[in-house]
Amino acid sequence: MVKTRIAVFVSGGGTNLQALIDAQSRGELPSGQIVLVLSSSAKAYALERAKKAGIDTAVCSRKALGSQAAFEAAIDAELRRHGVDMIVLAGFMSILSADFTRRWPDRIINVHPALIPSFCGKGFYGLRVHEAALAYGVKVTGATVHFVNEIPDGGRIILQKAVEVVPGDTPETLQRRVMEQAEWILLPRAAELVARQIAEEGERK
Ligand code: GAR
Repeated sequence: MVKTRIAVFVSGGGTNLQALIDAQSRGELPSGQIVLVLSSSAKAYALERAKKAGIDTAVCSRKALGSQAAFEAAIDAELRRHGVDMIVLAGFMSILSADFTRRWPDRIINVHPALIPSFCGKGFYGLRVHEAALAYGVKVTGATVHFVNEIPDGGRIILQKAVEVVPGDTPETLQRRVMEQAEWILLPRAAELVARQIAEEGERK
């Protein structure tokens, strides 16, 4: 079967990208191949991780490109150049327009560091999510991988996993536990599930 060509979009440290790269090298992403890592920032450490793994990289910065239209045109060009079939958002902190997401129905997945529908939507990203969970006082949080549509964090849920909050947690300790116990496990699994679906659809055509 032809492998699904995957682009991973990043903005920062890229530990979720690393989990995908490691899963691929262990043979746990048999239906897909990561062909591009696209970053919204030239400074993202995730780019180093991609280069170390021999994966092509691109930088598309909304700020540098001046408008959402120019930003998405640059992304489109990279996706076409690499023949991408599926996009994984792994800590990608730029917004994609409804026009963009509509062109990739059931082809974009995202990892969110909470149990959707809690602590999600506009303004909930990165450490802010864990700050909000601790401020609310929840005893259980977790991570969600979902399809991306025009509603922020509103697409169909693919996988979820709960993680305990423990006394004395800071946003940083909680973030780390959610990554270790949920995100780094769920994201490669969900990527394989969706990549397999896309590869099978291709076979049927
Ligand atoms: C991860 O915790 C991811 O779930 C979160 O940003 C972090 C990126 O870390 N994403 C969001 O908050 C999206 N709403 P990483 O760069 O080390 O993978």
